[in-house]
Amino acid sequence: MSTADRPTQGPRHAAGQYPRVRLRRNRADGWNRRLVAETRLGVEDLIWPVFVTEGSGVREPIASLPGVDRLSVDLLVEAVGEAAALGIPAVALFPVTPAHLKTPDGREATNPDNIACRAIRALKTSVPQIGVFTDAALDPYTTHGHDGLLDEDRILNDETVEVLCRQAVAAADAGVDVVSPSDMMDGRIGAIRDALDGAGHEMVRICSYAAKYASGYYGPFRDAIGTKAALRGDKKTYQMDPANTEEAMRETSLDLAEGADMVMVKPGLPYLDIVRRVKETFGVPTFAYHVSGEYAMLKAAAGNGWIDNDRVLMETLGCFRRAGADGILTYAAVEAARLLRKG
Ligand code: PBG
Repeated sequence: MSTADRPTQGPRHAAGQYPRVRLRRNRADGWNRRLVAETRLGVEDLIWPVFVTEGSGVREPIASLPGVDRLSVDLLVEAVGEAAALGIPAVALFPVTPAHLKTPDGREATNPDNIACRAIRALKTSVPQIGVFTDAALDPYTTHGHDGLLDEDRILNDETVEVLCRQAVAAADAGVDVVSPSDMMDGRIGAIRDALDGAGHEMVRICSYAAKYASGYYGPFRDAIGTKAALRGDKKTYQMDPANTEEAMRETSLDLAEGADMVMVKPGLPYLDIVRRVKETFGVPTFAYHVSGEYAMLKAAAGNGWIDNDRVLMETLGCFRRAGADGILTYAAVEAARLLRKG
């Protein structure tokens, strides 16, 4: 065919544009979608928060967290054993303290035989292959439900940090792998690092709740550990204002300078912009906490048949990965691990 006979002159389609370019081609088949997926969720990305309570053979459901129970140490060991068998790398332990052990100064926090320390010892003996995180904060132990010591209406910073150091050392003596200060006092990471090192625990890690916001999403958690009714006022003088991003960067950079090994952003889904900036700016292990209220919203909507539980759960956890989170604390960790296993 001579040039003159060609029906059109030049390329029929402009380069780099539709209809030459069709992004739907790479979405056309399951194999192709899998091949080009940019992020993946694996069981190794999950940290399972668990609640431990006194007694034995005790399993107490939490109404606002469907599917989550407070477990006595014996049942906790079993449950965590199953989580380990599913490949979940770590659990985050939260104690439920009986009312008669709560005091204004939260002194039970530093008792080497408190429920958290007993649970840590049992877990590290029976399920040594799983990592154990525990909070440094006083709220499970104070009558007023605050994370620190209270003077009238003021949360005392430096006095609280001193107690947190002793709490962290007690947990480390019991065998905890990671201390997670969730209290938002100033200067606590450096002080806890020094206290741990001074007690011979230089390999105990610190995961700081670096950017923790004063959030309404913690409601069901406070039901779970029994602090909601007790809580006087709110936590806005120490937890962050949801309006702020730059402050989250300052908090994170200070915690890293003070020796944090890993950092966390909390809550999760509504704060994925913070997760992204922290990960991009600092390039350190960054976790996000899919908190109790987020989990409760999913379960409530799914329970009503308004959304598909499994689909929305996996999408949600995948979004954390897309935002840059290296790990996700979620009450749905075991459920998600089972779904991942099914494929
Ligand atoms: C306590 C603590 C809280 C959570 C984790 N550690 C509650 C709070 O700060 O009041 C919330 C977790 C959740 O909502 O799932 N320092």
